[in-house]
Amino acid sequence: MSDNKKLACVIGATGNQGGSVARRFLKAGFRVRAITRDTSSPAAAKLADLGAELVAADLGDVSSLESALSGANVIFSVTNYWEPFFRPDCREAAKAQGISCRQFAGDVERQQGKNIADAAAGTVASLDANGFLVSTLSHAEKCSGGRVKELYHFDAKADIFPTYVEEKHPGLAAKMSCIHTGYFFTSFNILPHSYFGKQPDGSIEMRFPTSPDKMMPHFDPVGDMGNFVYAVHQLPAGKAYMAAGTTCSWTDFLATWGRISGHSVSFKEVTQEQMIAATPDTDAGIEVALMFFYSSDPGYDGGMELLTADDIRLAGVECPMTSWEEWASRQDWKAIMDRLG
Ligand SMILES: NC(=O)c1ccc[n+]([C@@H]2O[C@H](COP(=O)([O-])OP(=O)(O)OC[C@H]3O[C@@H](n4cnc5c(N)ncnc54)[C@H](OP(=O)(O)O)[C@@H]3O)[C@@H](O)[C@H]2O)c1
Repeated sequence: MSDNKKLACVIGATGNQGGSVARRFLKAGFRVRAITRDTSSPAAAKLADLGAELVAADLGDVSSLESALSGANVIFSVTNYWEPFFRPDCREAAKAQGISCRQFAGDVERQQGKNIADAAAGTVASLDANGFLVSTLSHAEKCSGGRVKELYHFDAKADIFPTYVEEKHPGLAAKMSCIHTGYFFTSFNILPHSYFGKQPDGSIEMRFPTSPDKMMPHFDPVGDMGNFVYAVHQLPAGKAYMAAGTTCSWTDFLATWGRISGHSVSFKEVTQEQMIAATPDTDAGIEVALMFFYSSDPGYDGGMELLTADDIRLAGVECPMTSWEEWASRQDWKAIMDRLG
């Protein structure tokens, strides 16, 4: 009987992370309420075909979230820095406010997080013991002891998940788990020339302001976020995790990619200024160069003690993850490299 099924409300269900979570909870027999601004989009239709209920809500509108989340046993939360970062109307709005589009997008993302937390706080009674599962990142300014300031797409997430929730909604915080996500395997699409820059001799050079030996978490959000979040839900609340399929240095990441793709490859540590100069959108260059710099010291995870898929398995819960090697082996790298130019 569908009425007896538990209800998982999934924010960002039409996207990478939320889509994966929606599919996994459907597979586990939950009723899934997929939250989207546009219930008529092709991505929403696909979820409906899989059996999800579609509900319209906007992360900028807390009252729409209150009704979308009502009765939830599980809530998956994700906020989106990059849409307001790139949208032309948001760039205009940032200009009108006299702030950078980086700061503007951080303000939007922080407000989205607050709205989710405030709305989710109204569901504490129906939520499972570990029912508030939030996608977040480390707080760069705090974790770096103030050395890395204005890494907006990290700090805007961490200001809310966990800080704001713990301060304003302790009952909700008691049912929350924070899930940090590693670098998406697909992020080369955003920065093709920094990831896989073709050299005049045909070889490939990866150029980031990160130490070549620093360990980095890498992640398949579409394939694995659902598995990870579903596994975390089976454990006690109040812990923080890093979702990653492979943790390795950029040198090793690139060596695997070179072996699979057949390209001759090397890694070069560059300065933030060099990376910014090599990125077509200067603001994007500043934001990501700072992230790669922070990833060297203290590290992408801010040096936090985060639990991993191995820890989840040690606790006796299944947590299948995709390694970079497995994921990269499934890609048509010739087509990708032709497209990236
Ligand atoms: N790239 C990386 O390596 C990396 C690593 C770690 C973390 N992240 C973080 O991942 C986040 C993005 O996650 P993703 O890749 O899963 O997102 P995505 O695939 O771009 O999808 C965004 C989702 O958010 C929903 N959404 C956006 N604005 C909304 C609003 N105002 N109201 C309601 N829903 C809204 C969209 O739904 P509709 O459009 O259907 O409304 C869509 O489902 C970013 O904040 C980024 O910083 C990225």
